[in-house]
This record gives sequence, C-alpha cells and structure tokens, in this order.
Amino acid sequence: MELYELSITFEKEISPLREREIESVMAMSNGYIGTRNSLEEYYPGCDPASFIANLYVKAPGDEFNFLPKIPDWTRIKIFVENEPLNLAGREIIKNSRYIDFTTGTIERNWQSKDEQGRITTVKIIKYISLATKNELGKLLVITPENYTGNIRVITGIDCDSADFGHLLNMNRESDRFAFVQMKTKYSERELKMFHKSSLNGKHKYNIENSYSGSFEEFEWHSELGREYKIKSLCTVNRSPETNFDESMARHATRWKQRWDDSAILIKGNVYDQKLVNFATYHLINAGEFSGNDCSIPARSLSGEAYKGHVFWDTEMYLLPFYILTNPEVARALLMYRYNTLDGARQNAINEGFKGASYAWESTDTGLEEAPEAAILPDGQVIPILSGMHENHISSDIAYTVWKYWEITGDDDFLMDYGAEILFETARYCECLLKKGNDGLYHINSVIGPDEYHELVDDNAYTNYLVRNNFDVAVKAKQKMNIEDEETKRWNHYKNNIYSGLNPKTGLYEQFKGFYNLEYVNLKDYEPRTVPMDIILGREKTQKTQVIKQADVLMFMFLFGERFSREELAVNYDFYELRCSHGSSLSPSIHSITAARAGKTREAYEYFLKNARIDIGNEFGNASGGVHIAAMGGTWMAIVMGFAGLYYDENGFRFDPHLPDEWDSIEFSLKWKGKRKDIYIDRKGIIAS
Ligand code: BGC
Repeated sequence: MELYELSITFEKEISPLREREIESVMAMSNGYIGTRNSLEEYYPGCDPASFIANLYVKAPGDEFNFLPKIPDWTRIKIFVENEPLNLAGREIIKNSRYIDFTTGTIERNWQSKDEQGRITTVKIIKYISLATKNELGKLLVITPENYTGNIRVITGIDCDSADFGHLLNMNRESDRFAFVQMKTKYSERELKMFHKSSLNGKHKYNIENSYSGSFEEFEWHSELGREYKIKSLCTVNRSPETNFDESMARHATRWKQRWDDSAILIKGNVYDQKLVNFATYHLINAGEFSGNDCSIPARSLSGEAYKGHVFWDTEMYLLPFYILTNPEVARALLMYRYNTLDGARQNAINEGFKGASYAWESTDTGLEEAPEAAILPDGQVIPILSGMHENHISSDIAYTVWKYWEITGDDDFLMDYGAEILFETARYCECLLKKGNDGLYHINSVIGPDEYHELVDDNAYTNYLVRNNFDVAVKAKQKMNIEDEETKRWNHYKNNIYSGLNPKTGLYEQFKGFYNLEYVNLKDYEPRTVPMDIILGREKTQKTQVIKQADVLMFMFLFGERFSREELAVNYDFYELRCSHGSSLSPSIHSITAARAGKTREAYEYFLKNARIDIGNEFGNASGGVHIAAMGGTWMAIVMGFAGLYYDENGFRFDPHLPDEWDSIEFSLKWKGKRKDIYIDRKGIIAS
C-alpha cells in the first residue's frame, strides 16, 4: 500500500502552554513501556514521564492503584564550550518535531545560534522498540555548522521525575554504561534500567552517578561541519548487550509490517490522511506487547490521567481495530480479562451476587479500582457510583469475546478461555434481573454509558447488552454440547428482557422516565468549551435530557446489522439533539451512526471532531495523555462508518458512504486468519 504525507510537524517555537499536550500526542509506546515526548534538555513546565504497563502501586492511605512514573531515559544535556545548549536566550533557527510514520520514530530537528554566533544543528530520533519489549532507542546527531570547539553531552537516566523513592544500586565507574536499580516509593516493586551509548570519533567518556540518576558523559573536540552521532540503547529489566543499529533495524521491520497491516489510505484529502495516520500510529503503539497481565489504559501509557486504569474503552473502541488487523494482540487483551476473572468474581461477591462482575476501572488484579468520590473544581465532593453501578462493562466484555470468535474463528480461545468469561458474566447478569408485573425482566438502578444520569431503571443499552450476554453464553454452551438448566434459563431471559422500544415510532427510551425529563436546546449553549454538566450543575443535568455520550446509539452501532437505516435514523435524530458529547467516546459513534443512517455530511463533521480530539485538544485535557479510545474511534469511523463494514459469524459486507471530500479509501482486514484488501471508491468496492 502506497502511503504519503508521513509526518506531523508541530510547533516551530516552544510554547510552554502547549508543551504538555505535545508530550502526549507525540508519546511513544509498545504496550509494555510508554514515554511522553518531552524536550530532552528539560524545561520548567515539561512533564517527562514513562510508564510500565501493569506496574501498579498504591500510595499509603490511598484506596486505589496507579501507574507510577519510572525514571526518564530520554534526558540529554548538551554543552558547547561549557555553555548549555537549549532554547532559552538564543536564536532558534528551526525546531520541528514530528512522528515519522514510515519508521515509527519520533524526530526532532533543532538548529540554534548562540551569542557568539555559533550555529549548532541537533537531530534526535527516539523509539520504543516494537520488536523487543524492553528496548528503548535514542539517536543524537550534533553538527557544529560554523565552528570547531569543545562539545560535551550528558545522556542517561534521570530519576528526579520518577515516583521511585529508593535507589538500590548504580553501576560502578568502570562499567561503560549508566544503570539504576530502584524500588517504588510506596510498594516494594523493583526496576532496573540500563543505558549504553557510543559515539563515532575520539572522545573522553565518564559515568556520572548521583541521587538524581545515572548518566554517560561524552566530551570531544569537534570539527567544523562534521556530524557526531551518539547512539544510546536503554533496556528495562535486561542487561544492555544489544547493538543499537540492529535494534533500530528490528524495530523498523516490525513497524513496517504493522503499518502495512493497519494503515488506511485516503485519497483526496491530505489533512484527513494525517489524522488517520496519527490515530493508527497510537493504536499500533498501544497494542503490541499489551495483554495477558495488563491491558490498555484509557490514556494508554501516554499520561497520568485516569491513573493507568483500564475501562470498557479497550473492548468497545480498541478491540475492533486489533481483532481486524492484528488478532494476536486482540487475543492477548482478552486474555487479560480471562486472567482477571478471579478479581471479577470477587467484585460480584462484594456486590452480593454470583458470577463475574468486571471492574469499571481495572488494574492488575481485576478488583474494582473506581474511586468512590471525586472533588470538583469548586471543592464540592461528589460520589462516584460507576464502580458499583456501571454494570454494562461485564456484558461489553462478553460482547467482544464473541465478536473476536466470530471474526477470527479461534475455537481454542473460545473453548479454553472465552466461554468461561461468557458463562461467568451471564451468571452475574442473572442477578441483575427483576421480574416485573408485565412478565418481563427489568434491570434497576444502573448507570449506562451516559453517566450524567445515575441509578436509572432499564437503561436500554445495559438491557440490550445483557440480553446479548445471555444469547452468546447460550451459543457457547451449544457449541460445547452443554444442555443444562442454566442454558434453559438464559434462553428464556434473552427473549424476555424489557427493551424500551416503542414499536410504533421505532424509538428506544434511553431509560424509564427519560421522556419526562426537561428538554434542553443544546444549541442555545453553543459555542461552549465547558461540559454541559458543569454549566448546568450536576443535579440540574440529571433532571434534563442532556446526555453525556452515545448510549442508545451505542448499541445500535454495536449491533448495526440488526437495524434498518430508518430505525437508526429515528434514534439518531432524537438522541443527537440531546447529546452534549461530554466524553471523548461520543463523537466517533455519532460519526458511524450518521454515516450508516445516510447522513454523510454530519458523519464527516463528527469524524473531524473525533479525529482532532488530541491534535486539536478539543476536550482541553490532552496533557493527561492521548484519548486512545478516540483513536480507535477514528479507525472505526472510516471502516465501519464510511466504508460501512457490517459483520457476523458468516461473513462481512460493506455499505459505503464516502464523504464528498474523499475519492477513495483503502485498507486491509484479517478475516478468519486471512488478509483481505479492500478498496472503495464511488464506483464500487473491490475486495481481494
Ligand atoms: C466516560 C466513560 C469512559 C471513561 C474513560 C468517561 O468520561 O464517560 O465512558 O470509559 O471516561 O475514558
């Protein structure tokens, strides 16, 4: 697949106000380690941070786990004739940073002139290896453009920005690498980081150790116009014998392969192509070594927001991408849910139920990690009920287990692991049901995806997903030739759960009593930069029809093949008017449902809104890390919205709605282990 427009260039000048955002949007990861793209020489206002998936710790007195910052391996200090080279107080000739989509690396090109007129060009390339889990690479190229003189570089591992309290060990001066061995501040988790570099040319070499970190120091007399390259390889929990060039080549090869499997090519709009490349970059990064004992946090490993906790975001927004482009990653992510079943069983017991209740916010154990209260900016303490009541998460996971099986045909996974998830979540769902006088089963006191309305009865989304949970659990039992009392009960429930559908209008009521709430015309509040629940206040919002994010539209998207265009349009027209998009998970689903309902213009506007969430900082909080679910949403908006992919166990089909701005789209999918290349333009669809 031919690709073009391979980079995103950010600011020429440094803007301290945007720096934390740029650190997030240009973050690197391989699913095991993630690092924000901080300016290597460090400035006040920078927030350098690296995280290791699954390295959760708990601060004393805190109820909940978080991912601590590990030491920063990207730090570089450069001195020309003993004067620090930085962006302060000198002429910046250029300073561009970009993600190189061809190589999966982050690049910075920087040229400055100091007071003595010395011009120095600096190029830095960084990557986190997609081929070898614990390798991190850094290439520094310095060119003294118009002078000869002394250059000194200090590069290594900085411990100051880390949440690691105890330094256990450092290397000996005689070792030719930097090294730190640390223990986390609050719990006794150990980490070793090695940093080994080489420089082309004659130089003096030193190791600098202090409580602030362990660094390698290179000093040499530079010649005019010559390129000096310092190649550094940092390894985590593994000694540094690896060769930098080989490591980088392995990374590039794996990257090319992933890119080839996952990229979407849009003809007709260069800017949109960049947006899509940007999302695909982060999705590939987040997935590679994730899974089994960890999953992808809501902000991936690119920032501290949500403390590294895992939500339904992974199954509903990310898994479609992985299942259809890299099923091995999808399987590993579902194995994380299998491996945390015991925690989910414990959560069910804590709620007084049986089966498995997956944590709304999950970490390494699967136990519920959602906070019970939050403090609003005005100091008000509000209860957070999602941990106890946002029960749809368990059925969301069951939905995705089944989708994974339908698309991959991975019977071994289903038999050995997936089925147990389906059965245990179905057992939990049984406990949620209450039989009503109407002879139907109801689910009371839940929170649906729309978190602005709490403890509602018969949330249409939850009920629909629970119904599906019974359905797929029964199907799995049938595949395993199990015919028992449970199967009969589940079969009965699945056909008798209250749906909220008015058959005359085709409209689903989001929950019982929703129609009686006050209608608020959201247009009256436009333009706005603040979420509606802040404008109206929490209590008032609950009394209105203002919703946070796609709820009815969410299940209509998930089960797209079951709804006609007209049915979808009726619900879209009703709920779109009431949706305030208070979550980054919302615009992509509106884009997909609008496209499927034939409203291509609206779909395109929502596509842009979603795809710009981080690059345009649409929610104002990109500094806390990228909204990885929205990246999955970008991919889904194209493949499932504009290309109109629908699928089930028997196969897939397309119902395309290309926006006017695009001539064609091209991508590939994995279907039951085979690659399918798809090309769609206005003349039709070619699948090969
Ligand atoms: C959304 C949830 C989402 C969470 C993490 C919340 O604001 O309402 O649906 O799972 O953020 O992204």
